[in-house]
Amino acid sequence: MKQQYNVGIVGATGMVGQRFALLLENHPWFRVKALAASARNKGKTYAEACEGRWKMKTPMPEQYKDMVLYDATADAAEIAGQVDFIFCAVDMKKEDIRALEETYAKLECPVCSNNSAHRMTPDVPMIIPEINANHAEIIPAQRKRLGTKRGFIAVKSNCSIQSYVPALSALLDFEPTEVAVCTYQAISGAGKTFETWPEMVDNVIPYIGGEEEKSEKEPMKVWGHVAGDHIEPAKLPVITAQCLRVAASDGHMAAAFVKFKNKPDRETILQRWKNFSGEAQKLGLPSAPKHFLTYFDEPDRPQTRLDRDLEGGMGVSIGRLREDALYDYKFVSLSHNTLRGAAGGAVLMAELLCAKGYMD
Ligand SMILES: NC(=O)c1ccc[n+]([C@@H]2O[C@H](COP(=O)([O-])OP(=O)(O)OC[C@H]3O[C@@H](n4cnc5c(N)ncnc54)[C@H](OP(=O)(O)O)[C@@H]3O)[C@@H](O)[C@H]2O)c1
Repeated sequence: MKQQYNVGIVGATGMVGQRFALLLENHPWFRVKALAASARNKGKTYAEACEGRWKMKTPMPEQYKDMVLYDATADAAEIAGQVDFIFCAVDMKKEDIRALEETYAKLECPVCSNNSAHRMTPDVPMIIPEINANHAEIIPAQRKRLGTKRGFIAVKSNCSIQSYVPALSALLDFEPTEVAVCTYQAISGAGKTFETWPEMVDNVIPYIGGEEEKSEKEPMKVWGHVAGDHIEPAKLPVITAQCLRVAASDGHMAAAFVKFKNKPDRETILQRWKNFSGEAQKLGLPSAPKHFLTYFDEPDRPQTRLDRDLEGGMGVSIGRLREDALYDYKFVSLSHNTLRGAAGGAVLMAELLCAKGYMD
């Protein structure tokens, strides 16, 4: 791998794009060379384009303020010529995102995407570095389809699955057969704050478009395996999900119920969670949490406000493991949706792909 990589942020003015900007400010491997958004903001400085819509709690870093924004579509070739790869998080129609990401890949510029458009494309890996780092092995097959030498698309999973999937991944060899999960998702997951979405103060909305389908299907791809030119999804467990929007600024919680073919005892589950780590920790990637999973014994933890920033927002916290009358066990888990669940997860995935030589 190289010592430094030049990167671009496409969708830099959005909620996830702003997170990318903060996370990459002092990144040891990545230097931000290009910022892009829609044609509406082309030619504006980043400071001008984000005026009145900077959604982060920390101010915009000085280094980005005077950078002039590109149009992500019209200037794709110019951006691709300056960077080793891009991070992409845009709010566009799915078919337009698919086309945009393929354009960059075909310009030999790899894409680390936060968008859902390519998550179900069979040869696009959806990587959580602690869980399925080996799915990167599909990249040569994708390059063959796209006719590229370097270019490819890799995606991170939806933020909703980022809490219960890691917890269940530590238990896969006990063969979970059925999972029921209810998620309690923060408003930043919709790119919003309480200022921009006042209807969410003191409210719960029992509908997030498309989220339940993603929460049921995406884990199967993450738990699948590389089979020649595609990723073959896992067949079990069957997952049923309900996803609710709740009045939290950041942090998605999940309450999960699970039935196993071979039911483990409680102590074994706790040991598995305590010791669970993966390629991200083995390689010592800069954004990897030391402890991926943390179990809280206190009956009222994890709490969104107290625990979402665990391990810099890259850890997953779990609590309330107990036996269940209908399923074998139930538990609660939490992860930060714009850090581990979005920009942070994509940065960690990019670090993995660099360490494995896919960005050279
Ligand atoms: N928020 C989360 O927690 C989260 C988690 C996981 C995944 N995601 C995904 O990440 C993506 C972005 O989400 P977000 O919350 O950051 O959205 P957002 O705050 O609404 O930002 C959208 C971004 O897309 C850009 N954009 C819109 N139309 C464009 C176009 N035609 N060409 C190029 N850029 C365009 C916007 O640029 P302008 O400023 O110029 O309009 C802005 O930079 C979505 O696909 C979302 O599903 C979000």
